[in-house]
Amino acid sequence: MDTILGGPELIDYGASLIKKGEIVAFPTETVYGLGASAYNEDAVKKIFIAKGRPQDNPLIVHISSPIDAAEIAIGIPDEAYVLWEIFSPGPLTLVLNKSNNIPDIVTAGYKTVGLRIPNNEIALSLINKSGLSLAAPSANISGRVSPTEAMHVYKDLHGRIPLIIDGGQCTIGIESTVLDLTKNIPIILRPGFITPEQIAESIGKVINHKGEIIKAESPGMKYSHYMPNCPCVSAVTTDSACELYDKNKNAIILGTNSFVESCGSRAVFRLGDNPSDCMKNIFKALRDSEELYSFIIIESFRDKHGYFALHNRLSKATKGITY
Ligand code: TXA
Ligand code: MG
Repeated sequence: MDTILGGPELIDYGASLIKKGEIVAFPTETVYGLGASAYNEDAVKKIFIAKGRPQDNPLIVHISSPIDAAEIAIGIPDEAYVLWEIFSPGPLTLVLNKSNNIPDIVTAGYKTVGLRIPNNEIALSLINKSGLSLAAPSANISGRVSPTEAMHVYKDLHGRIPLIIDGGQCTIGIESTVLDLTKNIPIILRPGFITPEQIAESIGKVINHKGEIIKAESPGMKYSHYMPNCPCVSAVTTDSACELYDKNKNAIILGTNSFVESCGSRAVFRLGDNPSDCMKNIFKALRDSEELYSFIIIESFRDKHGYFALHNRLSKATKGITY
């Protein structure tokens, strides 16, 4: 078989091949995919043969809009729509319960199906012009490195597939995050560009691929807070606090009594010598300091027992800058 390699002018031809039950390689923002109609068992078989892919590894179905999901998945939870709203089109694949419209070969016999809306004009146009959903794995020989340029696909698959549409280098370059939404708590099956923290911020909590539960901080916590209107950093030792003090004009050091005691004649604010006194005084100390000084140095409470809440607020004030 001859393999045609060309640019976006081949999208119409690609769509006609897909409609006829052929397979076509196309760019996405993550890696190149090798697509076939997700509804056509014989076409999907060609993907497994061209790649030498084991039959027990399910394929992701690519759609162009969440509206198309209802044909492919059933019982779609609200979380899916929230995630699509935020991350689609984009590098996130949602695993949902499969509808009977999708043949078992696509999902390797699983009752679930992976769905993704790629963020690439050529991919979206191929989906829209064929009027189909595309089952597509990465367009490499199974086990080889995923392709991020059309030539990578050509080297692996020329002679085995009829068409490669070249869309230049993939902008993201690693595969999508795969998130299973069929479990009690959503679980990341494959880490990717979209992080567990981003997912948790959107839907509350998620289990990362190491099995740890990642929870959203309370919603307000993602915004910048507690920011004094002059530069503010933290220092782990009194010595480094004094060094910073001496390098910056009109500075002040804030810390526990014992921390500031050996600061000599430098300007200091004594926060107290226990967590509750320090918490009581910290916001006043920041407000007073920003009125009178141009550079604030705060003792770092990162590893100090009992000061976790204080550290949390201060890490925002200092944007995490620690000396
Ligand atoms: O970024 C990507 O996801 C790229 C582009 C082309 O979209 N595709 C991709 O496909 O990486 P592939 O086939 O190389 O990897 C798909 C991954 C595999 O790890 C597969 O096991 C998992 O997704 N997967 C697909 N459907 C699944 C399902 N129903 N349940 C669990 N895992 C699934
Ligand atoms: Mg792959």
